[in-house]
Amino acid sequence: MTDLFIALAETEEDRVACFAIRREVFVVEQNVPAELEWDEHDAEALHILARDAHSHAPLGTARLVHYKPGIVKIGRVCVLAAARGRGVGASIMEFAWGESLRRGYTEAQLSAQVAVLDFYERLGYESFGEEFMDAGILHRMMRKSPIPPPR
Ligand SMILES: CC(C)(COP(=O)(O)OP(=O)(O)OC[C@H]1O[C@@H](n2cnc3c(N)ncnc32)[C@H](O)[C@@H]1OP(=O)(O)O)[C@@H](O)C(=O)NCCC(=O)NCCS
Repeated sequence: MTDLFIALAETEEDRVACFAIRREVFVVEQNVPAELEWDEHDAEALHILARDAHSHAPLGTARLVHYKPGIVKIGRVCVLAAARGRGVGASIMEFAWGESLRRGYTEAQLSAQVAVLDFYERLGYESFGEEFMDAGILHRMMRKSPIPPPR
């Protein structure tokens, strides 16, 4: 487990670091078209940045976007390839959930790449709805709530 410093990206430097990680992971590694990676939500989203606590190197990011009353969407979850498998992604998701609850949300939703459903299930997210394609990648909606959703 890497020693991490995770916080909301408050400065322009932090936001640039978040966007650089997304470019590296989604645009370069996963071939998501740049015009789809950046959208209108980026301006008002809360961006989360994980840094190595010692070197301060940016390692991973995610963003929170208001969806509807009580529901927040967590998106653009990614960790640089060299930093994966050491708990960075899980720690970012725990931070995102805590921040969502602190802001009064009672449910978080996300659009998960089906290849990483297990990653989110381990963190308490449940799938719902049909699979769908987004940016050429198969996805499924997931949600987490302190109150289990109706089955
Ligand atoms: C998915 C991603 C964010 C996970 O980050 P990470 O830092 O490697 O994950 P962690 O080390 O915190 O793993 C937490 C747990 O999830 C599991 N896990 C991690 N990646 C997984 C994957 N791709 N599939 C299934 N399980 C996975 C780990 O084994 C670990 O389990 P454990 O708690 O039993 O040890 C990272 O692999 C990534 O950035 N991938 C490319 C971008 C992407 O696909 N993002 C998701 C968009 S929906």
